Amino acid sequence: MNFITVKNYEELSHIAAKIIASQIVVKPNTVLGLATGSSPVGAYKKLIEKCNAGDLDFSSVKTVNLDEYVGLDDENDQSYRYFMNDNLFDHINIDKANTYVPNGCADDFDKECEIYDNRVKAFGGIDLQLLGIGIDGHIGFNEPDEFFVGPTHVVDLDESTIKANSRFFESEDAVPRKAVTMGMMSIMQAKKVLLIANGAAKKEIVEKAFFGPITPLVPASILQLHPDLTVIYSEN
Ligand code: F6R
Repeated sequence: MNFITVKNYEELSHIAAKIIASQIVVKPNTVLGLATGSSPVGAYKKLIEKCNAGDLDFSSVKTVNLDEYVGLDDENDQSYRYFMNDNLFDHINIDKANTYVPNGCADDFDKECEIYDNRVKAFGGIDLQLLGIGIDGHIGFNEPDEFFVGPTHVVDLDESTIKANSRFFESEDAVPRKAVTMGMMSIMQAKKVLLIANGAAKKEIVEKAFFGPITPLVPASILQLHPDLTVIYSEN
């Protein structure tokens, strides 16, 4: 594991964007696994700048996002599809048909999850997976549990996740209680994994996840088994 401690969010975003951009430069048809939430916003801004400056070409890139809230459609401004369009896809030269976010309004979630995993397989897996981490240790929406779950699946969100994510909604009651998330299989089979975390509130869980025992009670701890993991942490 390559654990990098940086001084602030600006530096974290700069390094994360450099790693993602380098991946695209060396493999223009890269399959990127992407995350939402506040952690990647700074890196996405920097990727947009590089693209608009003509230094980065997303035209052959494919993306697969980690998760989506159950019940929110693409037009809902709290959906992760909306977030991705707003924070990245609308501002770069990517073909939106090559961007995938799980369907939170699927009629048949078993089928949706199977299709999602099969698509990742058909792409030859993810080249670089970007992750944040929840204060309960979740990655994607893989919440603490008795077991690690491999395939894409529907989860009940933990109270701590609902509370943490209520900052994006009008009230805690408005936060969906379920989400569809990529499981550990696609994440752990990614060729490279980059996890970014910032803020003092994440310090304890980052220590547990990367320097404590590997346990499904701290889902991110499974990443200690990944052969090409980079973690960037900033306390500020
Ligand atoms: C988002 C996701 C989540 C977030 C995590 C941290 O797609 O998969 O695991 O990465 O909840 O969220 P922030 O960055 O908002 O602290």
